[in-house]
Amino acid sequence: PFIQPPQVEWASGALAKGPLLRKSTRIRDLTGVFADESARQRLAGEHVVYDVEILATSPAEGELYTGVTHLYPGRVGGEYFMTRGHFHARREQGEVYFGLRGSGLLLLQNEQGQARLESVCAGSIHIIPGFTAHRLINTSSEVLSALAVWPGVAGHDYAALAKGFTLRVFEENQQIQVREVQND
Ligand code: PA5
Ligand code: NI
Repeated sequence: PFIQPPQVEWASGALAKGPLLRKSTRIRDLTGVFADESARQRLAGEHVVYDVEILATSPAEGELYTGVTHLYPGRVGGEYFMTRGHFHARREQGEVYFGLRGSGLLLLQNEQGQARLESVCAGSIHIIPGFTAHRLINTSSEVLSALAVWPGVAGHDYAALAKGFTLRVFEENQQIQVREVQND
């Protein structure tokens, strides 16, 4: 007699039981996202960098979207696989990320270009305030999966970050190296 809500499968981080939208983002979709563009071009374009599953719910004012991002392990010219990253089109709208499996970093950056990195692991909770761009980075050799909840009206603004974030994260000598970059 009870309604069965959507679920996260703990082992895989996959969303289940809900009507879902799915989107894969591949190496070929990420032109200009990694520091070493020629290294990106040398990789197989069809290789999937991340998959997003989103519950098909209402986009109306006041409603929330829920999605899971599965960010695969890998590097482009030493730079860890990451999501494209975005501000919300409605800049004041925030978001919550919740780590499900794997480990990595959440890169947050305000409109003044000040950036910070939060550690993501199974169970970590990330409060992304309004006016804050966000990008997931997989620094491990496992899949990094994180659930996100955001307002249906938030929208995505990718163009505002076309010059990139001010921090980039690389693997050097089997260590995580954070580099500040000049985008002007
Ligand atoms: O809502 C979010 O912030 C996430 O669901 C992202 O959209 C997802 O991680 C994919 O990243 P991007 O939209 O930057 O390609
Ligand atoms: Ni977002």
